Amino acid sequence: MQVLQVSAEMYPLLKTGGLGDVTGALPDALARAGVDVRLLLPGLRPIRDGIAGLRPLGEFVAPWGLHMQVLYGQWNGHGVYVIDAPALYDRPGNAYVDADGVPYVDNHRRFAPLGQLAALLAHGFDARWRAQIVHAHDWHAALAPAYLHHTRRHRAHPAGSVFTVHNLAFQGLFPAATFAELGLPKVAFQMHGVEFHGQVSFMKAGLHYADRLTTVSPTYAREVQGPEQGGGLDGLLRQRRDVLTGILNGVDTRIWNPATDRLIAQTFDARRLARRALNKVALQRHFGLARRPDALLCGVVSRLTEQKGLHLVLDGLPELLARGGQLVVLGNGEPELEAAFRAAAQAHPRAVAVYIGYDETLSHRVFAGTDVTLVPSRFEPCGLTQMYGLVYGSLPLVHRVGGLADTVVDAALENLADGSATGFVFDRFDGAAYGAALRRAFALQARGAEWRRVQRAALRQVFAWDAAAARYVALYRSLLPAAHETTRPSEALVPERAVRR
Ligand code: ADP
Ligand code: GLC
Repeated sequence: MQVLQVSAEMYPLLKTGGLGDVTGALPDALARAGVDVRLLLPGLRPIRDGIAGLRPLGEFVAPWGLHMQVLYGQWNGHGVYVIDAPALYDRPGNAYVDADGVPYVDNHRRFAPLGQLAALLAHGFDARWRAQIVHAHDWHAALAPAYLHHTRRHRAHPAGSVFTVHNLAFQGLFPAATFAELGLPKVAFQMHGVEFHGQVSFMKAGLHYADRLTTVSPTYAREVQGPEQGGGLDGLLRQRRDVLTGILNGVDTRIWNPATDRLIAQTFDARRLARRALNKVALQRHFGLARRPDALLCGVVSRLTEQKGLHLVLDGLPELLARGGQLVVLGNGEPELEAAFRAAAQAHPRAVAVYIGYDETLSHRVFAGTDVTLVPSRFEPCGLTQMYGLVYGSLPLVHRVGGLADTVVDAALENLADGSATGFVFDRFDGAAYGAALRRAFALQARGAEWRRVQRAALRQVFAWDAAAARYVALYRSLLPAAHETTRPSEALVPERAVRR
C-alpha cells in the first residue's frame, strides 16, 4: 500500500507544535506496519537544508504561474518529496508567520502547492511511485483532497484521501479573491466546497472532500461536532460523522523515554524512581529557584496562547505560592501572556522561573524535573505535553477536554483505590475548579507513598504509535477498493498543468 503523508512540518526538521511531533513519528510506525510510506513537505529552509542529497525530480506550475521544482530524497529511510520554491519559502519568521508574528498574506500560495503536488503524485507525476492514499494533515495540506476530487474522473485508479484535523482553530481562511489562484473549478467555490462565509477555507476543503476524516483523539472527534468546538464547521462535521474517527496520538519513545533520555540530568523509570529527584534539583538550580526538594514544582511547556488556558495558572499563582509551590514556564506566544509570566518571575525569583522561547532540550528537563505538568487548556485536540508529563512522572493537571480527557485519570479516591489515578482533572473551565485540582495535587503530595504510587502508574502509561498506526492502516485499507471506482464529476484540472522534465 503506497501512502503519501502531506504536512507543513515534521520533527526534527521543523516543529512549531504537536503537529511536527506527530508527522515525525507516524511515518516510521506506518512503515513498521508494512506501509510503503512517502512524505511531501514544503521546501521551508530547515526542511530543504535538513535533508541531505535531495535531487530534482521534475517541475510543476502553480495556477498563478509560478514554476516550482520538486526535489526527491530520503529521510529516515522514507522517500521524501520537497517543493523547492524559494520565492514562497525562503523567508524569515517561522513556517506560517513573519518575524513579527503576522501570518504571511500569501499563505494560500505557500500551501496550496502541497495539495496540488499531492494530487499529482497520485496521478503519476513520479513514474516510479504512485500514491494510492493521500493522507493530509491540518489546513496547510487540506486542499489535497479537493484537487484529488476534481481530477478523479479522468484517472483509471484514483487515490483515496484521508484528512486529519490537528486543530480546528486554525482554518486557513483567505479572501474570496484568492480562489481564482487555486485553479479549482468554479463549482468548488460554494457551500458544498471550499467556500466558508464568503471566504476560501482550506480546512473546509479537507473536511468536505476527503474520503475519511480523523481527529487526534476520540473525545475531540465528538466535541468538534458541536457548536462550542466546531469553529463554525460543526454542521459539516456532523454531516460527515460516518467517516469521522478519533485516533489518539502516540508518544515517540525513541525521543521521549526517561530511561534512555540523554538530555536529562539523570535517567529513571518506575523501578528506579528515587533517581528522578536529581532532575528536580538540576531544574531548580538551572532556574535559580530555591532548592527545596519538598516544594511542589509545577511546569508549563506550551505555546502561550488563549487555547492553553494559562490565565488560570496566572490567576491561581498566589495560592500555589502560598502553599509553598514553585512554577517553571517554558513557552512563547502572545505578548501579554509572556509579559505576565515574566512579571511573576520577577516578583518571585526563588519560586517562579520563566524562559520565553523555544527550547527542545529544556522541555525534556522540565518534564523530568517537575512534579506536576499544568495543561489547563480551554480546548485540546490531543495534547502531547500531558502525555510527556505522564511518561516522565510529572503528574498532569488538566481540564477535562479533548485528548486531555482521554489520557489523564483524576486522583479521586475511587481512582486512587483501584490504582488508575495518573493526575488531576477538573471539569468546569474556571479558577475555582482549577484551584481545587491544584489543592488535590498538594494534598496528594503530602502523602508521599501514595504520590509515588500514582507516579509509577503514570510512568507505566503506554501511548503506542504502533496502535495508532494500525488504526490508520485500517482506514487506508477501507479506501483501497473505493479508490478504484471513478464516480465523481470534475471540471478544471490544475494538476494537468504539470510539466515533466
Ligand atoms: P500544540 O500542538 O497545540 O502546541 P501539543 O501538546 O500537542 O500542543 O504539542 C506541543 C509540542 O511542542 C510538544 O512537543 C511540546 O513539548 C512542544 N513545545 C511547546 N512549547 C515549547 C517550547 N517553548 N519549547 C520547547 N518545546 C515546546
Ligand atoms: C495540535 C493540537 C494538539 C495536538 C497536536 C498534534 O497542535 O493543538 O492538541 O496534540 O496538534 O496532533
